[in-house]
Amino acid sequence: MTLTPKIEQLRDMRAQSQNGGGEARIQRQHEKGKKTARERLDILLDPGTFREVDAFVHHHNNNFGLDKNKPLSDSVVTGWGTVDGRLVYVYSQDFTVMGGSLSEAHANKIIKIMDMAMKVGAPVIGLNDSGGARIQEGVESLGGYADIFLRNTLASGVIPQISVIMGPCAGGAVYSPALTDFTIMVKDTSYMFITGPDVVKQVLNEDVTFEDLGGASVHASKSGVCHFVADDETQSLMMARELLSYLPQNNMEDSPFVPATDDPLRAEEALDSIVPENPNQPYDIKDVIELVVDDGIFFEVHEEFAANIVCGYARLGGQSVGIVANQPMVLAGVLDIKASEKAARFVRTCDAFNVPIITFVDVPGYLPGTDQEHNGIIMSGAKLLYAYCEATVPKLTVITRKSYGGAYCVMNSKHIRADLNISWPTGEIAVMGPEGAVEIIYRRELKAADDPVAKKKELADEYREKFANPYVAASRGYIDDVIEPRNTRPRLINALQVFQNKRDENPPKKHGNIPL
Ligand code: HXC
Repeated sequence: MTLTPKIEQLRDMRAQSQNGGGEARIQRQHEKGKKTARERLDILLDPGTFREVDAFVHHHNNNFGLDKNKPLSDSVVTGWGTVDGRLVYVYSQDFTVMGGSLSEAHANKIIKIMDMAMKVGAPVIGLNDSGGARIQEGVESLGGYADIFLRNTLASGVIPQISVIMGPCAGGAVYSPALTDFTIMVKDTSYMFITGPDVVKQVLNEDVTFEDLGGASVHASKSGVCHFVADDETQSLMMARELLSYLPQNNMEDSPFVPATDDPLRAEEALDSIVPENPNQPYDIKDVIELVVDDGIFFEVHEEFAANIVCGYARLGGQSVGIVANQPMVLAGVLDIKASEKAARFVRTCDAFNVPIITFVDVPGYLPGTDQEHNGIIMSGAKLLYAYCEATVPKLTVITRKSYGGAYCVMNSKHIRADLNISWPTGEIAVMGPEGAVEIIYRRELKAADDPVAKKKELADEYREKFANPYVAASRGYIDDVIEPRNTRPRLINALQVFQNKRDENPPKKHGNIPL
């Protein structure tokens, strides 16, 4: 087949643009255990669906010798494709081209696909691997970042935005992932920080490695910046795909429904005895979740952060749902600063994208102490309260055991617009636990008692008998029903069907003032 010169030129330019920073740099990328920008897109997207735009874009900077180095495509690959047949927009930073650094041209390519995604209402997935601002450019690069931050913010709550961190992400560059809905990091090869180890050493005389300062495990367990940690790049991209399966394309669509094979009427006898008789004995709330949801599949968000509350996605009767659950196995399931902020963020993400929220409650209250008070548990606790109050998606609550004090109100109580609140017979709904309660209301009697320990037990038993059950709340209609635990799945699935067309709204306003 003979090609016209113009087609030959096109093919030649296309090949140049596909070649990134050249063979040697691609090899270096591979030696670090990293894939190239294009290889990553091939894994992320359905085979053969990637359509590239701006392959012929190059930077227009002539400083510091850059006039002789204007690679086609610059340092980011952009376009669209599909994930499970659904449209997504993507950008993938190419570290082999000037360290994936962000030039004005690079920023403009990202901006273009973000604007397209907003127009058609489709998610944006960003694969980040960049040395930050293109040092030779200066303010054009900074402006480019700010242009992206603005779009991240305007797109927030309109289309899902997912950031996968697959290499360096430093300086102000970290704010784009932080503004998106989810951040996935790859173990050992990705890091995020505002200032690197050298600056930390200069300013604070602290020695710290890249990994200890901003590696995946630090951000997954300590800062909460990272929602998911992947063992390798392929897993991180599979996680992004899985995450999308629970989310709608945009805020105007319903969350996805995948026909279920798991019997919606499945009664699960094991649930009847899962809560131990001793109220102070823990059990794993994830066992409860897995017994209730379709096929036992639970996609946990922030697994390593504030493990005293569990958040994640699942399906119930095929309907995508967000689950929030106190975890009695960790700190007795108490609400503290980190748990409140983690759950608040998750509740708002679900609400923004029309994903119904199921809340499993077993909470002894908020964590007391100077550390928590001085660091703002009041504001953090209020964030969770605000998030639940504001949410208008179907909201269902199952009280499995303790629901005490302010935490009763916060954990999706009837009073804050929950749609269905059910309790297991093991539910204990009261102002506080029996032991704490009798110490306050019977202080004098306990002091005067011959055997204060026996007296306290007697009074606590009496209190428990009276209040530590679900029936006082049920008698007021604060609990819609007390059910046999085995029936939790069918009840929840029925409620999701009943409330699927629920209409609820908040008063018109510019925006609320969540206690940040
Ligand atoms: C231009 C850059 C670059 C950058 C790397 N390169 N970062 N070019 N601007 N920011 C180039 C290198 O010159 C090199 O080019 C190639 O990318 C690979 O870089 P190496 O250093 O060889 O790679 P490696 O050893 O893996 O180290 C990666 C790195 C390091 C840790 C990211 O490159 C680095 O420290 N870069 C600078 C990071 C930085 O300070 N960025 C600015 C942050 S401030 P050749 O031609 O040799 O392949 C910032 C502000 C944003 O980003 C503000 C937003 C509001």
